Amino acid sequence: MESLLDSCTLINLPREANRQGSVTEVHRLVDVPFDIARVYYLYDVPGGASRGGHSHKELKQLVVAASGSFDVMLDDGRERKTIHLNRPYLGLYVVPGVWRELHNFSSGGICLVLASMPYDANEYIRGYENFLAYRKLK
Ligand code: TYD
Repeated sequence: MESLLDSCTLINLPREANRQGSVTEVHRLVDVPFDIARVYYLYDVPGGASRGGHSHKELKQLVVAASGSFDVMLDDGRERKTIHLNRPYLGLYVVPGVWRELHNFSSGGICLVLASMPYDANEYIRGYENFLAYRKLK
């Protein structure tokens, strides 16, 4: 049986590179497996700080290290995996129902997120115990 973690895959985004630099273009439903409703980015994250620490009920996301690097820890309630992101042309697809934490931001690190829905605080699952309870009810 495929686990939720198996569904969280690295997606190679298109990259146009030459001596003057690189550009990556992302099209909804083509380069990411969902429609993009929102883009947000995390920046100015102090050394040692962590972000995330929640799950989502419905939200699909593509997480990209637009600059610098950080680690994404994913947990489906049974197992965990940690992915180090450090390339602006690699996106980590995070499906709903997975607990995520972002750690070890490099100085100047920017976490760009393409999201399938507008921000909705009611759609978050906060608290790891709540997450485990939510997973058991499914
Ligand atoms: P939150 O998602 O809790 O941050 P973290 O990445 O650490 O889990 O969001 C932090 C704050 O920013 C919270 O008050 C909600 C607000 N916020 C928005 O207003 N819009 C957004 O798209 C996001 C992601 C957060």
